[in-house]
Amino acid sequence: MSDNKIFIFDTTLRDGEQVPGCKLNTQQKLEIARELERLGVDVIEAGFPISSPGDFEAVAQISTHIKNPIICGLSRAVEKDIKTAAEALKTARRPRIHTGIGTSDSHVKFKLKTTREKVIERAVAAVKYAKSFVEDVEFYAEDAGRTDNEYLARVIQAVVDAGATVLNIPDTTGYCLPDEYGAKIAYLKANVNGIDKTILSTHCHNDLGLATANSIFGVRHGARQIECTINGIGERAGNTSLEEVVMVMRQHAHLGFHDNINTKLLNPISQLVSDRMGMPVQPNKAIVGTNAFAHSSGIHQDGVIKKRETYEIINPLDVGVDQSKIVLTARSGRAAIAYRAKNIGYNLTKLELDKVYEQFLQVADRQKEVGDDDLTDIIGKLKGVAV
Ligand code: KIV
Ligand code: ZN
Repeated sequence: MSDNKIFIFDTTLRDGEQVPGCKLNTQQKLEIARELERLGVDVIEAGFPISSPGDFEAVAQISTHIKNPIICGLSRAVEKDIKTAAEALKTARRPRIHTGIGTSDSHVKFKLKTTREKVIERAVAAVKYAKSFVEDVEFYAEDAGRTDNEYLARVIQAVVDAGATVLNIPDTTGYCLPDEYGAKIAYLKANVNGIDKTILSTHCHNDLGLATANSIFGVRHGARQIECTINGIGERAGNTSLEEVVMVMRQHAHLGFHDNINTKLLNPISQLVSDRMGMPVQPNKAIVGTNAFAHSSGIHQDGVIKKRETYEIINPLDVGVDQSKIVLTARSGRAAIAYRAKNIGYNLTKLELDKVYEQFLQVADRQKEVGDDDLTDIIGKLKGVAV
C-alpha cells in the first residue's frame, strides 16, 4: 500500500442522517450502503447503535450484508455505548468502533463539566474498552479544531499508547482556516510518538464553507483518511462532501494522492441519497448540482461549443453525467442557438440564424429559459413566413 493512499470514510448514514428530515429506515440504509460499497469507499460509518433500536438494527444489517468496506459504529466514551456498538458490529467482516470525547475548553468546561486530566482518563479507558471487542478502534477528539495543539497532542499520545488505530481530528464547528487545520495535523505528526503506525483522519464541518479546503490541507499535512458525506450533508451546514474531495484529488493529480472511488458513480449515488433522504441538492453544488455542467451565458456557450475544456475542468462523463448542457436564456448568443437548433434537426443559415435570434430574444426576455419546444416554434414560424 502506498503512503499516498487516501482512505475515504463515508459518514452519510451517521453524520448525514442526523440532519432533521433525513431519517432513513433500515432498508434504505442498506440500499445506500450497497451503493457506497460499489462506489469504493473504504469505511462506512453505518450509525450510532446506542442512539435508537432502529439505528442498532441498521448497523447490524449493514454489518451482515456489506463485506468489502470496514463497517464502523459510533459511540461516546461511555461503556454501554461501546458495548452496544460492538454488539451491532458483531457480524461485520471488518468492524471498527469509533469512540471519543470533547477536548476543547468549551467542551471540557461547559459540556462535560470536568477537567482536562479527567478527559484524558476517559479517552484512554474508552479506547482500552473498545479494544477488548475489536482490533480496529478509531478515536475522535471532538472539537479538535478549537482545542489547543499542545493539549490535543497529549490526548492523542495517550490514546495512541492505549491502542487506537485511527485518530480523528474533527473540526466539529467548522471553525478552522485551512492553513491552521493543516498545521494542527502537522503538529500532531511531529509531536506524538508512534503516530506513524496509525492513520490520522480529517472530519471537517462546513460552517464557513471551508470543509473541503480543510480536508485537503489535512491530507497535504499528513492525514490519510477523509471523513465525508454524499452531497456534503451533515449537522448544520454539513460535512466535507465526498464528491468534492475526490474530484479535487483527481483534478490535482500532481499532489500524488489516490483513492478507490469509481467517480462514474458519483452522480447516481448523489441522486439516490437526495431522493431517499428527501433532501434536494442545490443546483450550483460542485460536481453533482444540476448546473455543475450547464452553460448559460453567450460567452461561455461559444467557448464550450468550440472546445468543452474552455469552461469545464471535469469531463461530465467522468462523474456519471451524460453531457454538458447548453441552456438557452436571454444571455445566450447565436452560437448556442445554432447549436441547439442543430440538435433538434435544423441547420440554420446565417440569415436564418439572425432572424431566429431576434425572435428568440423576445421570448427569452419574457421567460427564464427557452426550451426546445419554444425554439421549434420560433423556427417553424419564421420558416413558414420569410426565411
Ligand atoms: O463532528 C464531530 O466531531 C463528530 C464526531 C462525533 C466524530 O461528528
Ligand atoms: Zn461531525
